[in-house]
Amino acid sequence: MFAGKVVLVTGGTSGIGLALARAFLAAGARVTVCGRDPRRLEAARASLPGATASRCDVTDVGQVRRLLAEVEAGFGRLDVWSATPAASPSATSRPGSIRPRSSARCG
Ligand SMILES: NC(=O)c1ccc[n+]([C@@H]2O[C@H](COP(=O)([O-])OP(=O)(O)OC[C@H]3O[C@@H](n4cnc5c(N)ncnc54)[C@H](OP(=O)(O)O)[C@@H]3O)[C@@H](O)[C@H]2O)c1
Repeated sequence: MFAGKVVLVTGGTSGIGLALARAFLAAGARVTVCGRDPRRLEAARASLPGATASRCDVTDVGQVRRLLAEVEAGFGRLDVWSATPAASPSATSRPGSIRPRSSARCG
């Protein structure tokens, strides 16, 4: 189901998000994780072979827009946006104010 899909896991450098990123990779997806702490980002990068990791604070709309642009530039699209509650843009932004240009499932 996720083979070949482009997946962004915000808050994917620790805990539930990291486990989700690992599961998406195991299912054949192309995965990017984000978080704020550079050391956690580096550790996530090392523990998720094939994934990319970008620094982004999802409470900052500008950083989220940059991250989405980076993912879409790198992979050509975004299929799935997996947001853990701790790192969910919808918790801090007006719903609908941030949309990837490509089609995406946000949760
Ligand atoms: N673990 C559980 O059993 C459990 C149960 C029920 C509910 N929850 C809820 O589920 C959520 C995740 O739990 P967890 O245990 O996976 O937490 P966690 O291990 O602390 O992981 C949170 C992740 O989100 C990132 N993050 C936090 N704030 C962010 C921000 N503003 N921008 C970008 N990334 C951000 C963290 O990285 P950085 O800090 O480096 O940014 C980290 O990658 C929490 O809201 C928790 O309350 C957890």
